Amino acid sequence: MKVQTAALVLSAVLHTVWGQSPVVSVQPRTAAVKLGETVSFHCRVTSGSQPVQLEWKRTNNQPLGDNVKLGPDGAVLTITNVRLRNQGGYRCIATNAQGKETTTASLTIRQPPKVRVTPSGPLSVRAGESVTLECSVTGKPRPSISWTKQGSDTELVSTTTETTASLQVTVMSAEDAGIFVCRAQSREGLAEGRVELRVEGGASARVFPQASVTETDLTAVEGQSVTMHCHATGSPTPVVSWSKLRAPLPWQHKVNGGSLTLNNVGRQDSGQYICNATSALGFSEAYVQLEVDSPPYATTLTEETVARPGDALRLQCLAHGSHPIRFRWTRVGRASMSPGAETTKDGLLKIAKLKLTDSGTYKCVATNHVGSSEVLTKVTVRA
Ligand SMILES: *[C@@H]1O[C@H](CO)[C@@H](O)[C@H](O)[C@H]1NC(C)=O
Repeated sequence: MKVQTAALVLSAVLHTVWGQSPVVSVQPRTAAVKLGETVSFHCRVTSGSQPVQLEWKRTNNQPLGDNVKLGPDGAVLTITNVRLRNQGGYRCIATNAQGKETTTASLTIRQPPKVRVTPSGPLSVRAGESVTLECSVTGKPRPSISWTKQGSDTELVSTTTETTASLQVTVMSAEDAGIFVCRAQSREGLAEGRVELRVEGGASARVFPQASVTETDLTAVEGQSVTMHCHATGSPTPVVSWSKLRAPLPWQHKVNGGSLTLNNVGRQDSGQYICNATSALGFSEAYVQLEVDSPPYATTLTEETVARPGDALRLQCLAHGSHPIRFRWTRVGRASMSPGAETTKDGLLKIAKLKLTDSGTYKCVATNHVGSSEVLTKVTVRA
């Protein structure tokens, strides 16, 4: 303890007597910035006899550049709007009467990868020919480069330099056509360039079939014609076929290109229709829901009823057609129904005790959103 204290005192004395050359450090020691950004390095004198003079120099002995500014006491070096040529080392030099001391900071530029593919394509190549696709990349740090074919993860063998990758493709058949992708990747990002290669006179890139319909829900009225359109894309061109879910297509149908026409539709034609686009690559389905509406057709269980005064009367009106169906009973030639008559929603007419005056013709009208239909029934009350 005593020895250390003595040493400290001694060194302080020596410094005072003979002075000390400066000790400097720089913060940060390294910096990595993107083009256009601003960066500063701070040079600090940690000890040494004053006065200390600070000075900055490039380690490559080039001038600092016009976008480099020094702080008032020379301690802070600031580079605004960083350019490629600002990359490199910066030396901070501290000088006093006793000597000189330097410390170095270094600046690296970060650049996300960029990719350029030549020729740009789409390229048409005859079977048997070959073509060279060149991919050049830029970026800092230097990105890795690879070629793949779209739809596959397998890296293709290419000839590479630090900044290029050349891919030679020999086209033997339509299978060799497709989209070729050059990918450049570094920790600053990922960039891709692509070029389409087609086989002349043959199929181009292979594209999975895709079926789509213009309308997914259709409504028609009985007796009308209905046309459904299906659009299919893909390469090779898919073949379109139509079917009906859990049933054969109606016999009065016609297929024309991607369209299905049903003539004189009936209620039984309601349901789901399926457009199927199929190619060698697979198939894709699209669905159309068809609802066929029909107007009501009304009937009664009895055309004519003969009863005695005091009997009970029950008349049921029935109808088929699209639901919901409303029923309405009236008396033909009379402004109002018989007093004591009662009707229900489902088409029943009830008269608890018939009178002679209840004789006459009754009418049931059945209505839905498409149309209406009526039926007459005769009631005769005889004593
Ligand atoms: C569509 O076509 C494919 C291939 O022919 C077949 O496997 C599939 O069952 C078809 N779908 C319908 C709904 O018919």
